Amino acid sequence: MQGEIKTSKKPVIFSGIQPSGRLTVGNYIGSLRNFKLLEDNYNSLYCVVDMHAITVRQDPTELRRNISELAALYLAVGLDPNKNILYCQSHVPAHAELAWVLNCFTYMGELQRMTQYKDKSAKHVDNINAGLFTYPVLMAADILLYQTDVVPVGADQKQHLEIARDIAVRFNNIYGDVLVVPEPYIPKLGAKILSLKDPLRKMSKSDPEDTFIGMLDSPDMIRKKMKRAVTDSDARIKYDPENKPGVSNLMSILSILTGRGIDAIEADYAGKGYGVLKAEAAEACIEALAPIQAEHKRWMADQAELNRVLKDGAERASRIAARTMAKVRKKVGLAPLF
Ligand code: AMP
Ligand code: TRP
Repeated sequence: MQGEIKTSKKPVIFSGIQPSGRLTVGNYIGSLRNFKLLEDNYNSLYCVVDMHAITVRQDPTELRRNISELAALYLAVGLDPNKNILYCQSHVPAHAELAWVLNCFTYMGELQRMTQYKDKSAKHVDNINAGLFTYPVLMAADILLYQTDVVPVGADQKQHLEIARDIAVRFNNIYGDVLVVPEPYIPKLGAKILSLKDPLRKMSKSDPEDTFIGMLDSPDMIRKKMKRAVTDSDARIKYDPENKPGVSNLMSILSILTGRGIDAIEADYAGKGYGVLKAEAAEACIEALAPIQAEHKRWMADQAELNRVLKDGAERASRIAARTMAKVRKKVGLAPLF
């Protein structure tokens, strides 16, 4: 086992993804890809947040499958299980424990303002449960439990990060410097990859199949979906997210995955049709995803090793979490442990 987070001075990163469906290139570009880029300069924890996933109804067999798939994807993008702590949220009960405490320091009004809650409760009118409402508190607990400095996420999580910060500051104002106040890390380009069919909405793994490129989609599927992506009738390849969201979205995907600047892409594609842009964006996805898909397959075929990584991760995470929980218990005045 590698060095404990405690003994080194690198800042701490925490991030999580819900195992609630197949990951998209939006997830890859907005979060997973950055995890790998940040690996060397931080002590990082990457969590499969299965307790968040059950805030909407899940089929148990499918959920278990999605948990394995997501854990395998963490490894498949190249995250080294010795350099990073990779684990499942529900394996570390301290997440739920701290979430309860923090619930008592969070106001109903704050939670009512959360746009994700509003969106999800509009989408699942028959299941507006208390967990969906307090989802951001569990997320704050995830982050604050590890005295996290930086949280890499896509733009849609900015509001949740802000409430996590507010909760930490409020707690510290009462009890002294107990919790580190985290900073978001939101990429400049690619923080919000848009739906292929409705480029005013974000690409989401819970939307219909033809709206997203899945990280595990076959090359044919990727080409087909890209070909049908919604653009506009202006026929100019120009980066203008406001007026040309569909085209700009394809340009962002191409730029991030190939490392070519937006200006260079604009210049290279001047006078060319959208068909060429779509085809090249598809090839960029295929090329970026091929090695990840191969590694993913390898990890999925070795569930024993995958479980070993997750068990080791949960043990290491638990030890760090226990330190924060001990402090929190003491400060709040909960019954001392014998
Ligand atoms: P989720 O799928 O909601 O669990 O999101 C996992 C991570 O991916 C979060 O950091 C999100 O902000 C990020 N993410 C999800 N969808 C997108 C998207 N369309 N563009 C950029 N980032 C995204
Ligand atoms: N709420 C995040 C999302 O939907 C997932 C998440 C849960 C998370 N806990 C987290 C992200 C902690 C970053 C840090 O994308």
